[in-house]
Amino acid sequence: MATKTTEEMMAELESSIKPYKKDYHTYSHLPATGRKKETIIGELEALKAAEESKWKNGLVSGAVYHGAQDHIDFLNEVYALTSQTNPLHTDVWPSITKFEAEVISMTANMMSAEKVNDVEDADDEVCGALSSGGTESILLAMKTYRDWAREMKGIRNPEMIVPSTAHAAFDKASQYFNIKMKRIPVDENFKADIEKTRDAITPNTIVIVGSTPSFPHGVIDPIEALSELAREEDIGFHTDACLGGFILPWAEKLGYEVPLFDFRLPGVTSISVDTHKYGYAAKGSSIILYRNPELRRYQFYTTTDWPGGLYLSPTFAGSRSGALSAAAWAAMLSIGEEGYLANTKKILEAAAVIKDGIRDIPELYLLGDALWDIAFSSKDLNIYKVMDYMGEKKWSLNGLQNPAAVHICLTLRHAQEGLPEKFITDLKSAVESTINNPGKAVDGAGRLYGMSANIPIKGVVDAFLKRFLDLLFKL
Ligand SMILES: Cc1ncc(COP(=O)(O)O)c(C=O)c1O
Repeated sequence: MATKTTEEMMAELESSIKPYKKDYHTYSHLPATGRKKETIIGELEALKAAEESKWKNGLVSGAVYHGAQDHIDFLNEVYALTSQTNPLHTDVWPSITKFEAEVISMTANMMSAEKVNDVEDADDEVCGALSSGGTESILLAMKTYRDWAREMKGIRNPEMIVPSTAHAAFDKASQYFNIKMKRIPVDENFKADIEKTRDAITPNTIVIVGSTPSFPHGVIDPIEALSELAREEDIGFHTDACLGGFILPWAEKLGYEVPLFDFRLPGVTSISVDTHKYGYAAKGSSIILYRNPELRRYQFYTTTDWPGGLYLSPTFAGSRSGALSAAAWAAMLSIGEEGYLANTKKILEAAAVIKDGIRDIPELYLLGDALWDIAFSSKDLNIYKVMDYMGEKKWSLNGLQNPAAVHICLTLRHAQEGLPEKFITDLKSAVESTINNPGKAVDGAGRLYGMSANIPIKGVVDAFLKRFLDLLFKL
């Protein structure tokens, strides 16, 4: 098989991410006169129709977590009612301040805030803020620990200890805020390694991190032991429950084995939980929680001498949409405990069918003990090729690396009647195709992962990815 050059791959990528060039006008300048609103709506409807089936039928890993039409219509109505709001102006829109305080409190109580706040002699008072997504919540937490450690402990060269499987947002935080990253390899079950974490602690450590679960393998780290290490050293511990925060409390109630990961553990000092994933809110909201307001204060920005007046903001954004906060509030109220329990049950039952199906395919094996974010690989086959054959059947899965694997993160979309069974049927046929055509080049994301695995120079792949980002903004 001829290997494609980087340029050829770039050209192919360009045509796949810019599919509308031929049929739609490309605007590089403002139109001289405004276009009719009906025409613009018509164009948006056509684009929506072209893209909707990709995720609506449940063939995409993660991405859309609810997606039922009545839920979408409800969120859209909430958005329309609040579209002009901006929580920066607390005097104009106190309704948004109310929604945000309530979303934070409801989420905090899912993370056992009430249980720890009520303990006598403890000065815990779980609190939080609403951010734009999991990445922002994680960035905010890491900045908070950096500034806390500088003031309280005089640490000028901060370090963070993060399992290799924790989300890339922690690397982003390390780069943005100049915190030295210590990535610790996970154990053979893809869980954070307690002993290696202990060995990595230095006087400059400001925070230890664990995921519940991790994005790649859906594995829950040993939060109890890791957070105890942090408590012994008087450093922060962050539970990244971006993915699991709105599943695990309900899974526990449904009787699944869920280890403790929230504020019931005294060493846990912050938790990120995404309302815009299994909270079923519109994209653009997440909650960052802290064990007490003293810690949260290091997140806040205030300035008193700016000619524009006194200025204060809790997160990275200045102005932002209150409609997303209203949508998160409305989603949570409309679903309620009963709805979250029922939805979690559906997702976990779909996951059981898929895990059993994968166990029955001799060429494949499961990685770790995931509940619903399921990673699999093969000892004999090129798993990226299996992924590409799944792509031919319209499944959009995530390629993983180190080790090479593929995952499907199940959402309510996958809990549709017959879909878990269809996944397994298609997967069996993708495995067959890979066995029968091991040399055939298949177009898809698998090739990119293959390339990344085969290019030993990290900088080359980094440069390729930066060029991909350039491409996104090219006309
Ligand atoms: C465990 C985990 N943490 C953080 C994030 C980042 O969330 P976001 O994409 O909302 O920034 C994700 C996203 O999938 C995740 O799975």
